[in-house]
Amino acid sequence: MVKLKHVLVIPFPAQGHVIPLLKLSHCIADYGVKLTFVNTESIHAQVMTANPGLDDESHRIKFVAIPDGLETDEERKDPIKRLDSMLRVMPGHLQELIEKVKKQSNGIEDEQISFLIADVMVGWALEVAERMGIERATFCPPSVSALVSILHIPKLIEGGVIDNNGFVLKNDLIRISKDLRSYKSSDLVWSCPEDPATQKAIFKSLSSVAHYSKLSNSFLCNSFHELEASAFSVIPGALAIGPLIASAQLFQCRGSLRKEDSTCLNWLDQHPALSVIYVAFGSTTVFGPEQFYEIAHGLEQATQPFLWVIRPDITDGAVSEFLDGFLQRVRNYGKVVQWAPQEEVLAHPSVACFFTHCGWNSTLEGLSNGVPLLCRPYFTDQFLNKSLICDVWKVGLGVDSDENGLISRHEVREKVSAVLGSDEIRENCLRVKEMARKSISEGGSSLKNLQSFIELVKA
Ligand code: UDX
Repeated sequence: MVKLKHVLVIPFPAQGHVIPLLKLSHCIADYGVKLTFVNTESIHAQVMTANPGLDDESHRIKFVAIPDGLETDEERKDPIKRLDSMLRVMPGHLQELIEKVKKQSNGIEDEQISFLIADVMVGWALEVAERMGIERATFCPPSVSALVSILHIPKLIEGGVIDNNGFVLKNDLIRISKDLRSYKSSDLVWSCPEDPATQKAIFKSLSSVAHYSKLSNSFLCNSFHELEASAFSVIPGALAIGPLIASAQLFQCRGSLRKEDSTCLNWLDQHPALSVIYVAFGSTTVFGPEQFYEIAHGLEQATQPFLWVIRPDITDGAVSEFLDGFLQRVRNYGKVVQWAPQEEVLAHPSVACFFTHCGWNSTLEGLSNGVPLLCRPYFTDQFLNKSLICDVWKVGLGVDSDENGLISRHEVREKVSAVLGSDEIRENCLRVKEMARKSISEGGSSLKNLQSFIELVKA
Protein backbone atom coordinates (compact mmCIF):
# COMPACT_ATOMS: atom_id res chain seq x y z
CA MET A 1 0.00 0.00 0.00
CA VAL A 2 1.32 3.50 -0.90
CA LYS A 3 1.75 5.55 2.25
CA LEU A 4 0.30 9.05 2.35
CA LYS A 5 2.58 11.84 3.47
CA HIS A 6 1.72 14.86 5.56
CA VAL A 7 3.44 18.10 4.53
CA LEU A 8 3.41 21.30 6.57
CA VAL A 9 3.73 24.56 4.63
CA ILE A 10 4.57 27.86 6.30
CA PRO A 11 4.64 31.20 4.43
CA PHE A 12 5.94 34.55 5.63
CA PRO A 13 2.82 36.47 6.75
CA ALA A 14 2.27 38.72 3.73
CA GLN A 15 0.14 38.61 0.59
CA GLY A 16 3.01 38.10 -1.86
CA HIS A 17 4.10 35.01 0.11
CA VAL A 18 0.75 33.38 0.98
CA ILE A 19 -0.44 33.28 -2.66
CA PRO A 20 2.55 31.46 -4.23
CA LEU A 21 2.88 29.03 -1.32
CA LEU A 22 -0.80 28.18 -1.55
CA LYS A 23 -0.41 27.55 -5.29
CA LEU A 24 2.53 25.26 -4.55
CA SER A 25 0.43 23.48 -1.91
CA HIS A 26 -2.33 22.84 -4.44
CA CYS A 27 0.19 21.41 -6.92
CA ILE A 28 1.48 19.03 -4.25
CA ALA A 29 -2.02 18.09 -3.10
CA ASP A 30 -2.82 17.15 -6.73
CA TYR A 31 -0.43 14.25 -6.22
CA GLY A 32 -2.35 12.87 -3.25
CA VAL A 33 -0.24 14.40 -0.51
CA LYS A 34 -1.94 15.67 2.65
CA LEU A 35 -1.15 19.30 3.54
CA THR A 36 -1.40 21.59 6.52
CA PHE A 37 -0.98 25.30 5.77
CA VAL A 38 0.17 27.40 8.73
CA ASN A 39 -0.60 31.11 8.83
CA THR A 40 -0.30 33.59 11.64
CA GLU A 41 -3.65 34.14 13.38
CA SER A 42 -4.03 37.55 11.81
CA ILE A 43 -3.38 36.32 8.24
CA HIS A 44 -5.50 33.21 8.82
CA ALA A 45 -8.52 35.35 9.75
CA GLN A 46 -8.09 37.48 6.61
CA VAL A 47 -7.66 34.48 4.28
CA MET A 48 -10.71 32.72 5.71
CA THR A 49 -12.89 35.83 5.40
CA ALA A 50 -11.82 36.61 1.85
CA ASN A 51 -11.92 33.02 0.54
CA PRO A 52 -15.14 31.40 1.78
CA GLY A 53 -15.14 27.63 1.44
CA LEU A 54 -11.40 27.29 1.93
CA ASP A 55 -11.82 25.87 5.43
CA ASP A 56 -14.33 23.27 4.29
CA GLU A 57 -13.58 20.00 6.14
CA SER A 58 -13.58 18.11 2.85
CA HIS A 59 -10.89 20.41 1.49
CA ARG A 60 -7.59 18.67 0.86
CA ILE A 61 -5.56 21.42 2.53
CA LYS A 62 -6.08 22.08 6.23
CA PHE A 63 -5.57 25.67 7.38
CA VAL A 64 -4.30 26.33 10.89
CA ALA A 65 -3.06 29.40 12.75
CA ILE A 66 -0.36 30.21 15.28
CA PRO A 67 0.21 33.54 17.10
CA ASP A 68 2.85 36.03 15.95
CA GLY A 69 3.15 37.62 19.38
CA LEU A 70 1.85 41.02 18.25
CA GLU A 71 -1.16 42.75 19.76
CA THR A 72 -2.37 45.07 17.02
CA ASP A 73 -2.28 45.55 13.25
CA GLU A 74 -0.51 48.84 13.88
CA GLU A 75 2.38 46.84 15.42
CA ARG A 76 2.32 44.47 12.44
CA LYS A 77 2.90 47.38 10.07
CA ASP A 78 6.23 48.05 11.77
CA PRO A 79 8.74 45.71 10.05
CA ILE A 80 11.20 45.95 12.92
CA LYS A 81 8.68 44.91 15.61
CA ARG A 82 7.16 42.31 13.36
CA LEU A 83 10.36 40.48 12.40
CA ASP A 84 11.57 40.58 15.98
CA SER A 85 8.35 39.25 17.47
CA MET A 86 7.98 36.48 14.88
CA LEU A 87 11.47 35.21 15.59
CA ARG A 88 10.90 35.23 19.36
CA VAL A 89 7.42 33.74 19.45
CA MET A 90 6.66 31.62 16.42
CA PRO A 91 9.26 28.80 16.61
CA GLY A 92 7.82 27.66 19.96
CA HIS A 93 4.25 27.71 18.63
CA LEU A 94 5.27 25.82 15.49
CA GLN A 95 6.91 23.10 17.57
CA GLU A 96 3.77 22.82 19.75
CA LEU A 97 1.64 22.52 16.63
CA ILE A 98 3.75 19.69 15.20
CA GLU A 99 3.67 17.89 18.56
CA LYS A 100 -0.10 18.33 18.74
CA VAL A 101 -0.55 16.80 15.27
CA LYS A 102 1.61 13.88 16.36
CA LYS A 103 -0.44 13.34 19.52
CA GLN A 104 -3.72 13.47 17.61
CA SER A 105 -2.44 10.94 15.07
CA ASN A 106 -2.72 8.16 17.67
CA GLY A 107 0.45 6.59 16.36
CA ILE A 108 -0.75 6.52 12.73
CA GLU A 109 2.45 7.39 10.94
CA ASP A 110 0.84 8.86 7.81
CA GLU A 111 -0.93 11.52 9.88
CA GLN A 112 2.27 12.84 11.43
CA ILE A 113 4.15 15.69 9.77
CA SER A 114 6.85 14.11 7.61
CA PHE A 115 7.98 17.13 5.56
CA LEU A 116 8.11 20.89 6.07
CA ILE A 117 8.26 23.55 3.35
CA ALA A 118 9.27 26.94 4.71
CA ASP A 119 9.24 30.32 3.02
CA VAL A 120 12.79 31.63 2.67
CA MET A 121 11.81 34.48 5.04
CA VAL A 122 10.88 32.11 7.88
CA GLY A 123 14.08 30.06 7.92
CA TRP A 124 13.70 29.52 11.68
CA ALA A 125 10.96 27.00 10.83
CA LEU A 126 13.63 24.81 9.21
CA GLU A 127 15.53 24.80 12.49
CA VAL A 128 12.40 23.62 14.32
CA ALA A 129 11.88 20.86 11.73
CA GLU A 130 15.52 19.78 11.88
CA ARG A 131 15.35 19.46 15.68
CA MET A 132 12.24 17.32 15.32
CA GLY A 133 13.75 15.05 12.65
CA ILE A 134 11.46 16.28 9.84
CA GLU A 135 12.59 16.51 6.21
CA ARG A 136 12.69 20.06 4.84
CA ALA A 137 12.62 22.31 1.77
CA THR A 138 12.89 26.08 1.33
CA PHE A 139 10.60 28.00 -1.02
CA CYS A 140 11.68 31.35 -2.44
CA PRO A 141 8.84 33.76 -3.41
CA PRO A 142 11.12 36.43 -4.97
CA SER A 143 13.17 36.00 -8.17
CA VAL A 144 16.31 33.87 -8.31
CA SER A 145 18.27 37.00 -9.22
CA ALA A 146 17.15 38.47 -5.88
CA LEU A 147 18.00 35.23 -4.11
CA VAL A 148 21.54 35.29 -5.54
CA SER A 149 22.20 38.69 -3.98
CA ILE A 150 20.73 37.55 -0.64
CA LEU A 151 22.83 34.38 -0.50
CA HIS A 152 25.94 36.40 -1.33
CA ILE A 153 25.54 38.82 1.59
CA PRO A 154 28.43 37.26 3.56
CA LYS A 155 30.74 37.58 0.52
CA LEU A 156 29.63 41.17 -0.14
CA ILE A 157 30.50 42.07 3.47
CA GLU A 158 33.80 40.21 3.25
CA GLY A 159 34.68 42.01 0.01
CA GLY A 160 33.96 45.41 1.57
CA VAL A 161 31.11 46.08 -0.86
CA ILE A 162 28.54 46.55 1.93
CA ASP A 163 28.87 47.04 5.67
CA ASN A 164 27.40 44.84 8.40
CA ASN A 165 24.05 46.62 8.11
CA GLY A 166 23.80 46.26 4.33
CA PHE A 167 24.74 49.87 3.52
CA VAL A 168 26.68 50.10 0.27
CA LEU A 169 30.31 51.21 0.72
CA LYS A 170 31.31 51.34 -2.95
CA ASN A 171 28.72 52.84 -5.19
CA ASP A 172 29.79 50.95 -8.32
CA LEU A 173 28.07 48.17 -10.14
CA ILE A 174 28.26 45.06 -7.98
CA ARG A 175 29.69 41.95 -9.64
CA ILE A 176 28.74 38.72 -7.88
CA SER A 177 29.75 36.24 -10.55
CA LYS A 178 31.34 36.51 -13.96
CA ASP A 179 28.34 34.63 -15.38
CA LEU A 180 25.89 37.18 -14.05
CA ARG A 181 25.00 40.74 -14.98
CA SER A 182 26.22 43.25 -12.38
CA TYR A 183 23.74 44.58 -9.82
CA LYS A 184 23.14 48.30 -9.38
CA SER A 185 23.53 49.17 -5.70
CA SER A 186 20.00 50.61 -5.76
CA ASP A 187 18.74 47.20 -6.94
CA LEU A 188 19.95 45.36 -3.84
CA VAL A 189 16.90 43.80 -2.18
CA TRP A 190 17.50 45.44 1.18
CA SER A 191 17.98 48.95 -0.18
CA CYS A 192 15.38 51.27 1.41
CA PRO A 193 17.20 54.60 1.17
CA GLU A 194 14.51 56.61 2.93
CA ASP A 195 14.49 54.57 6.10
CA PRO A 196 17.82 53.26 7.46
CA ALA A 197 16.17 51.56 10.49
CA THR A 198 13.88 49.50 8.26
CA GLN A 199 16.78 48.70 5.96
CA LYS A 200 18.77 47.40 8.94
CA ALA A 201 15.89 45.17 10.11
CA ILE A 202 15.23 43.76 6.64
CA PHE A 203 18.93 43.24 6.05
CA LYS A 204 19.31 41.40 9.35
CA SER A 205 16.50 39.07 8.42
CA LEU A 206 17.86 38.49 4.89
CA SER A 207 21.36 37.90 6.28
CA SER A 208 20.10 34.78 8.01
CA VAL A 209 18.89 33.21 4.74
CA ALA A 210 22.35 31.87 3.81
CA HIS A 211 22.59 30.15 7.20
CA TYR A 212 19.06 28.69 7.21
CA SER A 213 19.18 27.54 3.60
CA LYS A 214 21.85 25.02 4.61
CA LEU A 215 19.25 23.32 6.80
CA SER A 216 17.06 22.24 3.89
CA ASN A 217 17.62 19.63 1.22
CA SER A 218 15.76 21.41 -1.60
CA PHE A 219 15.53 25.02 -2.67
CA LEU A 220 12.35 25.64 -4.67
CA CYS A 221 12.12 28.79 -6.79
CA ASN A 222 9.04 30.37 -8.33
CA SER A 223 10.78 31.05 -11.63
CA PHE A 224 11.78 29.14 -14.72
CA HIS A 225 15.18 28.25 -15.99
CA GLU A 226 14.79 29.89 -19.39
CA LEU A 227 13.93 33.23 -17.73
CA GLU A 228 16.81 33.44 -15.24
CA ALA A 229 19.36 30.97 -16.61
CA SER A 230 22.43 32.90 -15.46
CA ALA A 231 21.08 33.39 -11.93
CA PHE A 232 20.23 29.69 -11.68
CA SER A 233 23.79 28.87 -12.80
CA VAL A 234 25.13 30.69 -9.71
CA ILE A 235 22.96 28.60 -7.34
CA PRO A 236 23.25 25.10 -8.77
CA GLY A 237 21.01 23.58 -6.07
CA ALA A 238 18.05 25.86 -6.82
CA LEU A 239 15.11 24.07 -8.39
CA ALA A 240 12.99 26.07 -10.86
CA ILE A 241 9.34 25.11 -10.45
CA GLY A 242 7.58 28.23 -11.75
CA PRO A 243 5.78 30.13 -12.83
CA LEU A 244 3.25 28.77 -10.36
CA ILE A 245 -0.10 29.77 -11.78
CA ALA A 246 -3.59 29.41 -10.38
CA SER A 247 -5.64 26.95 -12.37
CA ALA A 248 -9.15 28.10 -13.32
CA GLN A 249 -10.74 26.25 -10.38
CA LEU A 250 -8.34 27.97 -7.99
CA PHE A 251 -9.06 31.48 -9.20
CA GLN A 252 -11.69 31.95 -6.50
CA CYS A 253 -9.63 30.77 -3.54
CA ARG A 254 -5.96 31.40 -4.17
CA GLY A 255 -5.35 33.04 -0.81
CA SER A 256 -6.13 36.72 -1.30
CA LEU A 257 -6.22 38.58 2.00
CA ARG A 258 -8.94 40.88 0.67
CA LYS A 259 -12.22 40.12 -0.98
CA GLU A 260 -11.80 40.17 -4.75
CA ASP A 261 -14.21 42.37 -6.68
CA SER A 262 -15.16 40.32 -9.73
CA THR A 263 -17.42 43.00 -11.24
CA CYS A 264 -14.35 44.18 -13.13
CA LEU A 265 -14.40 41.00 -15.21
CA ASN A 266 -17.81 41.91 -16.72
CA TRP A 267 -16.48 45.40 -17.27
CA LEU A 268 -13.45 43.96 -19.12
CA ASP A 269 -15.79 41.83 -21.26
CA GLN A 270 -17.23 45.03 -22.67
CA HIS A 271 -13.92 46.23 -24.06
CA PRO A 272 -12.13 45.35 -27.30
CA ALA A 273 -9.03 43.16 -27.29
CA LEU A 274 -5.81 44.85 -26.10
CA SER A 275 -7.46 48.12 -25.10
CA VAL A 276 -7.37 48.30 -21.27
CA ILE A 277 -4.55 49.49 -18.98
CA TYR A 278 -4.60 47.42 -15.79
CA VAL A 279 -3.15 49.39 -12.85
CA ALA A 280 -2.31 47.64 -9.56
CA PHE A 281 0.54 48.20 -7.14
CA GLY A 282 0.35 45.06 -5.01
CA SER A 283 -0.47 44.71 -1.35
CA THR A 284 1.86 47.16 0.40
CA THR A 285 2.65 50.12 -1.87
CA VAL A 286 1.66 53.45 -0.34
CA PHE A 287 1.64 56.79 -2.19
CA GLY A 288 1.56 60.29 -0.82
CA PRO A 289 -1.56 62.15 -2.04
CA GLU A 290 0.47 64.24 -4.48
CA GLN A 291 1.84 61.16 -6.27
CA PHE A 292 -1.59 59.58 -6.24
CA TYR A 293 -3.09 62.64 -7.95
CA GLU A 294 -0.39 62.64 -10.65
CA ILE A 295 -1.04 58.98 -11.51
CA ALA A 296 -4.80 59.66 -11.59
CA HIS A 297 -4.40 62.69 -13.86
CA GLY A 298 -2.01 60.73 -16.10
CA LEU A 299 -4.54 57.93 -16.54
CA GLU A 300 -7.31 60.45 -17.09
CA GLN A 301 -5.31 62.21 -19.80
CA ALA A 302 -4.27 58.96 -21.50
CA THR A 303 -7.99 58.54 -22.34
CA GLN A 304 -7.43 54.80 -22.75
CA PRO A 305 -9.82 52.51 -20.81
CA PHE A 306 -8.27 51.60 -17.45
CA LEU A 307 -8.97 49.33 -14.52
CA TRP A 308 -7.28 50.59 -11.35
CA VAL A 309 -6.96 48.75 -8.03
CA ILE A 310 -7.16 51.40 -5.30
CA ARG A 311 -6.79 49.68 -1.93
CA PRO A 312 -8.39 51.71 0.89
CA ASP A 313 -4.89 52.09 2.39
CA ILE A 314 -3.01 52.96 -0.81
CA THR A 315 -2.38 56.57 0.24
CA ASP A 316 -1.09 58.03 3.48
CA GLY A 317 -3.44 61.01 3.23
CA ALA A 318 -7.13 61.63 2.57
CA VAL A 319 -7.96 61.48 -1.13
CA SER A 320 -11.66 60.63 -1.09
CA GLU A 321 -12.84 64.08 -2.13
CA PHE A 322 -10.45 64.09 -5.10
CA LEU A 323 -11.45 60.53 -5.95
CA ASP A 324 -15.17 61.41 -6.16
CA GLY A 325 -14.51 64.08 -8.78
CA PHE A 326 -12.00 61.92 -10.63
CA LEU A 327 -14.37 58.94 -10.86
CA GLN A 328 -17.09 61.22 -12.15
CA ARG A 329 -14.82 62.58 -14.89
CA VAL A 330 -13.52 59.18 -16.06
CA ARG A 331 -16.81 57.30 -15.68
CA ASN A 332 -16.97 56.44 -19.39
CA TYR A 333 -13.59 54.75 -19.55
CA GLY A 334 -12.27 54.10 -16.03
CA LYS A 335 -13.16 51.42 -13.49
CA VAL A 336 -11.85 51.33 -9.93
CA VAL A 337 -11.96 48.37 -7.51
CA GLN A 338 -10.45 47.88 -4.05
CA TRP A 339 -8.96 44.47 -4.90
CA ALA A 340 -9.12 42.58 -8.20
CA PRO A 341 -8.96 38.90 -9.13
CA GLN A 342 -5.59 39.77 -10.65
CA GLU A 343 -4.71 36.55 -12.44
CA GLU A 344 -8.09 36.48 -14.16
CA VAL A 345 -7.72 40.12 -15.10
CA LEU A 346 -4.28 39.59 -16.62
CA ALA A 347 -5.54 36.59 -18.58
CA HIS A 348 -8.39 38.67 -20.04
CA PRO A 349 -7.99 39.44 -23.77
CA SER A 350 -8.95 43.10 -23.35
CA VAL A 351 -5.92 43.88 -21.16
CA ALA A 352 -3.23 45.71 -23.15
CA CYS A 353 -0.66 46.55 -20.47
CA PHE A 354 -0.05 46.32 -16.73
CA PHE A 355 1.07 49.37 -14.72
CA THR A 356 2.72 47.58 -11.78
CA HIS A 357 4.94 47.96 -8.70
CA CYS A 358 6.96 44.96 -10.02
CA GLY A 359 6.34 42.59 -7.10
CA TRP A 360 7.66 39.22 -8.23
CA ASN A 361 4.21 37.59 -8.27
CA SER A 362 2.74 40.42 -10.31
CA THR A 363 5.74 40.29 -12.64
CA LEU A 364 5.35 36.55 -13.22
CA GLU A 365 1.59 36.87 -13.64
CA GLY A 366 2.12 39.57 -16.27
CA LEU A 367 4.85 37.59 -18.07
CA SER A 368 2.80 34.36 -18.07
CA ASN A 369 0.01 36.20 -19.83
CA GLY A 370 2.23 38.06 -22.30
CA VAL A 371 1.19 41.48 -20.98
CA PRO A 372 3.63 44.42 -21.43
CA LEU A 373 4.60 46.06 -18.15
CA LEU A 374 4.88 49.66 -17.00
CA CYS A 375 7.13 49.72 -13.96
CA ARG A 376 6.97 51.84 -10.86
CA PRO A 377 8.79 49.87 -8.10
CA TYR A 378 8.21 50.73 -4.45
CA PHE A 379 10.15 48.45 -2.11
CA THR A 380 12.80 45.70 -1.68
CA ASP A 381 13.18 43.36 -4.69
CA GLN A 382 10.89 45.43 -6.93
CA PHE A 383 13.74 47.68 -8.16
CA LEU A 384 15.73 44.67 -9.30
CA ASN A 385 12.62 43.21 -10.98
CA LYS A 386 12.15 46.48 -12.83
CA SER A 387 15.73 46.27 -14.16
CA LEU A 388 15.14 42.72 -15.35
CA ILE A 389 11.85 43.70 -17.03
CA CYS A 390 13.16 46.81 -18.77
CA ASP A 391 16.85 46.07 -19.43
CA VAL A 392 17.15 42.30 -19.69
CA TRP A 393 13.90 40.79 -20.99
CA LYS A 394 12.76 44.10 -22.56
CA VAL A 395 9.11 43.41 -21.83
CA GLY A 396 8.25 46.79 -20.36
CA LEU A 397 9.23 50.38 -19.65
CA GLY A 398 10.07 52.22 -16.46
CA VAL A 399 7.93 55.16 -15.35
CA ASP A 400 10.50 57.63 -14.04
CA SER A 401 10.40 60.27 -11.33
CA ASP A 402 11.10 63.95 -12.02
CA GLU A 403 13.52 66.17 -10.09
CA ASN A 404 11.00 66.38 -7.21
CA GLY A 405 10.88 62.62 -6.87
CA LEU A 406 7.41 62.50 -8.39
CA ILE A 407 6.14 60.57 -11.38
CA SER A 408 4.32 63.27 -13.29
CA ARG A 409 1.00 62.93 -15.12
CA HIS A 410 2.90 63.76 -18.30
CA GLU A 411 5.29 60.82 -17.72
CA VAL A 412 2.39 58.44 -17.08
CA ARG A 413 0.62 59.53 -20.26
CA GLU A 414 3.79 59.33 -22.38
CA LYS A 415 4.86 55.91 -21.10
CA VAL A 416 1.39 54.43 -21.51
CA SER A 417 1.43 55.51 -25.10
CA ALA A 418 5.05 54.32 -25.62
CA VAL A 419 4.45 50.84 -24.19
CA LEU A 420 1.23 50.38 -26.14
CA GLY A 421 2.95 51.49 -29.35
CA SER A 422 6.00 49.23 -29.06
CA ASP A 423 5.95 46.20 -31.37
CA GLU A 424 9.31 45.08 -29.96
CA ILE A 425 7.96 44.90 -26.41
CA ARG A 426 4.84 43.03 -27.50
CA GLU A 427 6.88 40.48 -29.45
CA ASN A 428 9.21 39.94 -26.49
CA CYS A 429 6.19 39.49 -24.21
CA LEU A 430 4.74 36.81 -26.45
CA ARG A 431 8.11 35.03 -26.59
CA VAL A 432 8.44 35.01 -22.79
CA LYS A 433 4.82 33.90 -22.40
CA GLU A 434 5.50 30.94 -24.68
CA MET A 435 8.65 30.02 -22.71
CA ALA A 436 6.71 30.21 -19.45
CA ARG A 437 3.91 28.04 -20.81
CA LYS A 438 6.37 25.43 -22.12
CA SER A 439 8.25 25.22 -18.82
CA ILE A 440 5.12 24.17 -16.93
CA SER A 441 3.65 21.96 -19.67
CA GLU A 442 4.19 18.20 -19.94
CA GLY A 443 7.92 17.59 -20.38
CA GLY A 444 8.78 21.23 -19.52
CA SER A 445 11.74 22.04 -17.25
CA SER A 446 9.75 23.42 -14.31
CA LEU A 447 7.11 20.70 -14.36
CA LYS A 448 9.79 18.00 -14.39
CA ASN A 449 11.50 19.64 -11.40
CA LEU A 450 8.23 19.90 -9.52
CA GLN A 451 7.39 16.28 -10.20
CA SER A 452 10.80 15.10 -9.03
CA PHE A 453 10.41 17.20 -5.86
CA ILE A 454 7.02 15.63 -5.17
CA GLU A 455 8.55 12.18 -5.64
CA LEU A 456 11.12 13.16 -3.00
CA VAL A 457 8.35 14.29 -0.63
CA LYS A 458 6.48 11.02 -1.12
CA ALA A 459 9.59 8.83 -0.88
C1 UDX B 1 6.11 41.32 -2.07
C2 UDX B 1 7.30 41.55 -3.03
O1 UDX B 1 7.24 42.75 -3.69
C3 UDX B 1 7.49 40.40 -3.96
O2 UDX B 1 8.44 40.68 -4.96
C4 UDX B 1 7.85 39.23 -3.14
O3 UDX B 1 8.17 38.13 -3.95
C5 UDX B 1 6.69 38.94 -2.24
O4 UDX B 1 6.37 40.06 -1.43
P1 UDX B 1 3.69 42.25 -2.99
O5 UDX B 1 4.18 43.62 -2.80
O6 UDX B 1 2.47 41.90 -2.31
O7 UDX B 1 4.81 41.15 -2.65
O8 UDX B 1 3.51 42.03 -4.58
P2 UDX B 1 3.40 40.75 -5.47
O9 UDX B 1 4.58 39.87 -5.34
O10 UDX B 1 3.11 41.24 -6.83
O11 UDX B 1 2.13 39.96 -4.90
C6 UDX B 1 0.85 40.50 -4.90
C7 UDX B 1 -0.14 39.38 -5.13
O12 UDX B 1 -1.43 39.94 -4.88
C8 UDX B 1 -0.15 38.86 -6.55
O13 UDX B 1 -0.23 37.45 -6.55
C9 UDX B 1 -1.42 39.44 -7.16
O14 UDX B 1 -2.08 38.60 -8.07
C10 UDX B 1 -2.29 39.65 -5.95
N1 UDX B 1 -3.23 40.77 -6.18
C11 UDX B 1 -2.78 42.05 -6.24
C12 UDX B 1 -4.55 40.48 -6.35
O15 UDX B 1 -4.96 39.32 -6.32
N2 UDX B 1 -5.41 41.52 -6.54
C13 UDX B 1 -5.04 42.80 -6.60
O16 UDX B 1 -5.89 43.67 -6.77
C14 UDX B 1 -3.66 43.09 -6.43
